[in-house]
Amino acid sequence: MSGALWGGRFEEEPLEALVAFGASLPVDVRLALYDLRGSLAHIRMLKRQGIVPAGAAERIEAGLRTMLREAWAAIGGAAAAGTADPAPAPVRTSSVDPFGWGWRLADEDVHMAIERTLAERIGPDAGWLHTGRSRNDQVALDMHLYAVDVAAALEKAVEGLRQRLEVLAARGPDAPMPGYTHLQRAQPVTWGTHLGAYQEMFRRDAERFRACCERAAVSPLGAGALAGSSFPLDRASVAAELGLPAVYANTMDAVADRDFLVEIAAACALCMVHLSRLAEELVLWATAEFGFIRLSDRVATGSSMMPQKKNPDPAELIRGKCGRVFGDLQALLVLLKGLPLAYNKDMQEDKPAFFDATDTTLACLDAMDAFLSGVEPDLERMRAAVEADPSIHATRMAEDLVRQGVPFREAHAQVGRRLRGVDGG
Ligand code: ARG
Repeated sequence: MSGALWGGRFEEEPLEALVAFGASLPVDVRLALYDLRGSLAHIRMLKRQGIVPAGAAERIEAGLRTMLREAWAAIGGAAAAGTADPAPAPVRTSSVDPFGWGWRLADEDVHMAIERTLAERIGPDAGWLHTGRSRNDQVALDMHLYAVDVAAALEKAVEGLRQRLEVLAARGPDAPMPGYTHLQRAQPVTWGTHLGAYQEMFRRDAERFRACCERAAVSPLGAGALAGSSFPLDRASVAAELGLPAVYANTMDAVADRDFLVEIAAACALCMVHLSRLAEELVLWATAEFGFIRLSDRVATGSSMMPQKKNPDPAELIRGKCGRVFGDLQALLVLLKGLPLAYNKDMQEDKPAFFDATDTTLACLDAMDAFLSGVEPDLERMRAAVEADPSIHATRMAEDLVRQGVPFREAHAQVGRRLRGVDGG
């Protein structure tokens, strides 16, 4: 029998190279607190339903709670570590053994690592924990809990950025500036309207993240590997304890569904488009040619060779990071498109893509917020740009002629000729 938790039917040990290849611990270690929280809810339900012996369930519960407290303390949440049932949080580390429990690649993934540590602490009673559960519904649950939290964090960050733009717009809500189409001067607009357009984009992003958060709040637990369980699991009470208002209707869908990750990654990609368009305008406005904004030294960088340079690096980097997030979304879509039901190991690859998409978007939202704190609008430059170019009022001139009874097409032509300097213009 192999030493793995699933080793019963195996005579030989797996090749070391393939163990390392298949291990997801370096990535899913991030889910450790969510996994512990899910296991706590599961064992309490098994005990309430009389599915496992009460004594063993109590020892498992005590062991898991100690682990959860230790894990919290290790990631720096001393206050939460003291409460009875601290809410989970992501573990951000590159270590596979962030709590000093002796985790290693051979543990395969965070689910097995936790079970091994529990068994080391409480002995064979730990073996009751996985009753009526598979890693397939377990990992899906962890990702749902994580997705709910990260979508809420994204909504909060995007709303914070929208408010920052509101404050910046209030510096000159009615201040005239040139408005552009085709990046050619088109009609006068105001600083308030221009920044208001971005506020609208981020308002929609916030709504999308909220909707994603609500749709991700479904519990797959109880689906088992794919076909549920012969035990009388109480799926609704586990879901309720975890703050998830709904339970998957179909057990195969429960373990195969990653729509909620795709939706959040798609919302991230769109939010990155908005960030990037804003970044592009800020880069343009900071040029000597436009001069519509000035950057504080706190948010710009210099050149190693050219002493005069002051570069808008953070905005450029935000623009540049879009490709990663679009790639992550693409990776998730391609990952799923050819998979037969239900779980396939391919799905382990959802985590690097999803974590990167959400980490990158959160980092860019924070960076844009910080960058905007050092942006000073030059309202006088904008006004001067409008006043220096009377042709920017051409549409208004044509409309004035219409008000005097000239058909619009004729008015358009008259103003055009006047701007060309013919017809007495
Ligand atoms: N590490 C796995 C993942 O991330 C957990 C589920 C494994 N399930 C299995 N049947 N091998 O997808």
